[in-house]
Amino acid sequence: MPLNILVTQKIPDSAYPLLEKVGTVDANMEEGRIWSADELLQKAPGHEYILSLVTDTMDAQLLEACTPHLKLVANMAVGYNNIDVATAKRLGIVVTNTPGVLTETTADLAFGLLLATARRLGEAERYLRAGKFTGWGPLLLCGTDVHDATLGIVGAGRIGKAMARRARGFDMKLLYYNRHRLPLEEEQQYALTYAPLPKLLQQADFVSIHAPYTQETHHLIGSRELALMKPEAMLINTARGPLVDEKTLVLALQKGTIAAAGLDVFEREPVVEPALLTMENVVLLPHIASASVKTRTRMATMASENIVAHSTGQPPPNSVAG
Ligand code: GLV
Repeated sequence: MPLNILVTQKIPDSAYPLLEKVGTVDANMEEGRIWSADELLQKAPGHEYILSLVTDTMDAQLLEACTPHLKLVANMAVGYNNIDVATAKRLGIVVTNTPGVLTETTADLAFGLLLATARRLGEAERYLRAGKFTGWGPLLLCGTDVHDATLGIVGAGRIGKAMARRARGFDMKLLYYNRHRLPLEEEQQYALTYAPLPKLLQQADFVSIHAPYTQETHHLIGSRELALMKPEAMLINTARGPLVDEKTLVLALQKGTIAAAGLDVFEREPVVEPALLTMENVVLLPHIASASVKTRTRMATMASENIVAHSTGQPPPNSVAG
């Protein structure tokens, strides 16, 4: 029996031949077109493998509708909060992700977003394009120094540590908060000083989030946490939107509880809190942290290789714990 593989969005070209070697590929080839939950529910059942993206909500209803055919969901992302892993496990469906390959690319963007937020790059570019640049000015678009400032890293996994390495190049002082404290050798290697979250929030000039989104980390940064931050501090989020209470963040930015924010992810993507769109003290990006050609190609290959491995009786290399 040929295996049926569903690819829910257009992905880098080199992945398709890998998948075609092991099954019949049924793919959404319309670039930028995201299937609605109803479309996915119509299309997914009957496939043994699904290569999914973060835009696909693979909840209990969908996974049950795909039973008994579905064997594995290969998420082309390191985060897999879009998949109900507990239900997948109960139904015997393997879930895989793409760790490691996107670490450096994501940290590049996170650090770029920090710089853009501190030095008001979005605002400055909008100013110039609007024809407002009439000459150099001593007070024109002055921002905040990044060098020598204190960066608080929330979540010191692969990406958090890669962020730390970049920050050291800017002579930043580094605090981190993590569910589990890192071994002493790693703290020393990355020049990271552990701080409980409240202390980190009180001391950091920049807070950058690199934690996974789970039930426990929902609204990890809410009104209480924002109130602990310095009025001149800035919040950077390249992890997942719902780690931050977005409505509360808007209020904090409006009231001056914190100075600015750089956001690559949003609580209700693709919807962005309308007030954010009108604020000059935020830099907003459309969830592009891992978006380099090379990295997206590697992610697509890695997701496909998990499907290939499972279909040929090998353990998929990147299965996630349920
Ligand atoms: C992207 O958001 C990812 O989790 O890889």
